[in-house]
Amino acid sequence: MKKTIEIHETAFVTSAFRASNVALSKDCFAALWANEKTDAHAKEYVEEVSKYEPIAHCLRNRYFFETIQSLFKQKKIEVLINFGAGFSMYPFLLDQGLEHIEIDQDDVIAYKKERIFKWMQEGKLPERKIEYISTDFNESKEAELFIKVQKIKKGRSCFILIEGVLFFIDKEDTLRLFELFKKIQNTEDYIGSVSFKKELEHTLGFQKMISFIEKNLVANQKFQYQTINDDFYNQLGGYELIDQKDHHSLGKIYGSDLIFKKDILLNEQMYLLKKN
Ligand SMILES: C[S@@+](CC[C@H](N)C(=O)[O-])C[C@H]1O[C@@H](n2cnc3c(N)ncnc32)[C@H](O)[C@@H]1O
Repeated sequence: MKKTIEIHETAFVTSAFRASNVALSKDCFAALWANEKTDAHAKEYVEEVSKYEPIAHCLRNRYFFETIQSLFKQKKIEVLINFGAGFSMYPFLLDQGLEHIEIDQDDVIAYKKERIFKWMQEGKLPERKIEYISTDFNESKEAELFIKVQKIKKGRSCFILIEGVLFFIDKEDTLRLFELFKKIQNTEDYIGSVSFKKELEHTLGFQKMISFIEKNLVANQKFQYQTINDDFYNQLGGYELIDQKDHHSLGKIYGSDLIFKKDILLNEQMYLLKKN
């Protein structure tokens, strides 16, 4: 079977999902990334894996948008560092004044930087201060990343976001990244992290996702898919888990009529951690 989606292209699909219900996701700029190929991938994914994926991605974006906005308004964070940022548009949704560091693979960063610059010049996007860093989380580049981030962040308080990424990297890479987060952050800084629990592997939705991926994804050499249990976050030294949501709980908060069939929903866990 011909492989058709590369890992970085999953970021386009995520944007298409967020654009599907702007009132829910609050991402009024996601549609800028739309293109025919992505729309076809997104449609196929929804048909073959789970009809809830668009709404699930809207809920995830809404949760982090509201959480980060609230922390910024309370003057608790000055910089948002988005690891595996893809084509997420938080810089333009959140208040001006927050600064941004976006980290992803070379091709995503090159394309995003060029598009964002153009759209800001054309007035399609408001002006924001964004620094981009390209890297590969599989390649133990944390020492280099640390220097680059510190140079931009200059000791300021920060929120680190890692959403839609941990599934694609392994445990070793994850542990190295969380060690890096600890080095980068000050006391009372925040991490927002998203992952699937291991128990989800038994659901029909998850199995359909894996067979879709096996059929369609051009994976990198290390790709296996990672699920993570709550213990990882509860036992993460130096951090306290201060909030945890999933699509069921977010559905109740942001869309009162949303009820999902458990077996089909690819239920992600959203974790909010605060550094001790
Ligand atoms: C599903 S997208 C999610 C993008 C974004 N966080 C969002 O929620 O819209 C996954 C992102 O992780 C990035 N990614 C996956 N593996 C990576 C790696 N080894 N190094 C750097 N970035 C990686 C991809 O390039 C892609 O942008």
